Amino acid sequence: MKVCETNFMQGFIRLAADGYAKNWHELNGGNLSYRMTAEEVDEVREALDFTGEWIEIGASVPKLATAFFVTTGSGKFFGNVARAPKENLAIIEIDAAGTNYRIVWGLVGGGRPTSELPSHLMNHEVKMIATNGAHRVIYHAHPANLIALTFVLPLEDAVFTREIWEVMTECPVVFPEGIGVVPWMIPGGRDIAVATSELMKTYNIAVWAHHGLFVSGEHFDRAFGLMHTVEKASEILVKVLAMGGKRQTITRENFCDLAEAFEVTLDEAALGEK
Ligand code: 13P
Ligand code: ZN
Repeated sequence: MKVCETNFMQGFIRLAADGYAKNWHELNGGNLSYRMTAEEVDEVREALDFTGEWIEIGASVPKLATAFFVTTGSGKFFGNVARAPKENLAIIEIDAAGTNYRIVWGLVGGGRPTSELPSHLMNHEVKMIATNGAHRVIYHAHPANLIALTFVLPLEDAVFTREIWEVMTECPVVFPEGIGVVPWMIPGGRDIAVATSELMKTYNIAVWAHHGLFVSGEHFDRAFGLMHTVEKASEILVKVLAMGGKRQTITRENFCDLAEAFEVTLDEAALGEK
């Protein structure tokens, strides 16, 4: 089986194309990673090259030791992934200590995995533990309306969550646990990775102020869907603010009724005082 024809690779490639079509990936903006199953590794093992050098991750992820990931390349464009997956993507293997990786497939012509690899891997580790292995996709994009809101809304988890919940009724059903907010930080390093993965213990969505959004999901559709939902709600909120602000809205009581009807537990802090 050719690597690019596998289901997981097709899912990866489709998300990259769909995200690009949404205008969330200017130039090399954004990155994506997927934790492969053991069966998927076996499916492509013959096509993998295990002679590459081990490289430091820049973070320690012992729970991900010996795991394999598909990841976008640093400086590579989402818009080029479908046309040339082998040039723009890599499969990487994590070493037995969880501190180094090596490229076993892809990035033909040279390159490294995304500069946000420490964030991706630390988040994968946190979400794998928190979901008993269910979450496999971490996705980062630069959606314009969400970024615009980070210049206007207070950079606080509860406020941000409530504002996004309020503009689209199904938001609290999709992410009842809310949204975390990371203040502006230098991209690509360990610090932003630590801050994001701390929030991901609670949330599946983390805002990077003045930069973009990080989401975690079980599969590509869920991760893309979360990105889509938050960005669509952000677009509505930007329009509402541009029209002079809310004149009526969904109330705390409405949210409580919604939670009961959909059997979800809403984050108390975002729900606010009785
Ligand atoms: P990479 O090209 O290294 O993935 O960086 C893009 C980005 O969005 C950084 O946050
Ligand atoms: Zn980015």
